[in-house]
Amino acid sequence: MKLQNKVAIVTGSSRGIGKATAILFHEEGAKVIVNYKTNKKAALDVVKGFDKGNYLLVQADVSKEADVKRLVAETIEKFGKIDILVNNAGEIIRPGNWKSDVETWDKTFAVNLTSAWLMTKEVVELMKANGGGAIVNIVSVYGFLGAAPVLAYTSAKAGLITMTKSFAKELAPAIRVNAVAPSNVMTDMTKGAGKELIETFRKQTPLKRIAEPEELAKAILFLASDDASYITGEMLVVDGGYSLR
Ligand SMILES: NC(=O)c1ccc[n+]([C@@H]2O[C@H](COP(=O)([O-])OP(=O)(O)OC[C@H]3O[C@@H](n4cnc5c(N)ncnc54)[C@H](OP(=O)(O)O)[C@@H]3O)[C@@H](O)[C@H]2O)c1
Repeated sequence: MKLQNKVAIVTGSSRGIGKATAILFHEEGAKVIVNYKTNKKAALDVVKGFDKGNYLLVQADVSKEADVKRLVAETIEKFGKIDILVNNAGEIIRPGNWKSDVETWDKTFAVNLTSAWLMTKEVVELMKANGGGAIVNIVSVYGFLGAAPVLAYTSAKAGLITMTKSFAKELAPAIRVNAVAPSNVMTDMTKGAGKELIETFRKQTPLKRIAEPEELAKAILFLASDDASYITGEMLVVDGGYSLR
């Protein structure tokens, strides 16, 4: 068990990559805080096989500071410490291209970038008081490749790549901060792109398939665990070779 007795918050863990990560962390012995924004039914489904007492379900919009404070406070109240934070919550909001509007731009940055800053800010002192911790930010290869139809989203992810490095320098040696960069993963986010585009992604990927969320969860587990004890400020690209083009 790689996460025995660890307490881990996974933001946006009712579906997709966050869900797979919460399930894997639980299997590895962690007490997991499963967070969702609106989809309580999906979140309940995630924890239905979990050991009683080893999880906490929290509704919180992590783009809002008050919700972030409540999420962290409820975690401390239940488990008394935080060892791991996975900043996974993210969303593509359309129209996302350069002709979009300020409201969409601001919302996109709030959920994909500001949320990770707010969450990190809130857990730092708690992690330090507990002897340290590990933070994993879920970025995207499009954060360094760019993608015009989702310009706001890719700009926010680029910010999160840089934020990962800045926090890694600032919070060392107590807290390691790393990122995982997927390309295209078979989740609701990718399904929203439509079958034709998914097939294009598949063809453009050297490994000739779209990733399963569980494959990302394994990379997140690696960076969150002591297996990565000498790694900080790093971005692990998990994309089947997609960004090699
Ligand atoms: N899928 C991909 O191909 C891909 C590629 C690169 C990067 N990523 C990144 O990987 C992360 C996970 O993506 P995914 O594909 O697994 O997404 P997904 O299947 O669409 O699930 C998104 C999750 O985030 C939650 N969420 C959204 N906004 C939130 C907020 N403001 N506060 C709290 N939770 C919120 C959702 O909760 P509800 O269920 O309540 O709505 C849901 O659990 C994102 O950061 C995404 O940008 C994904």
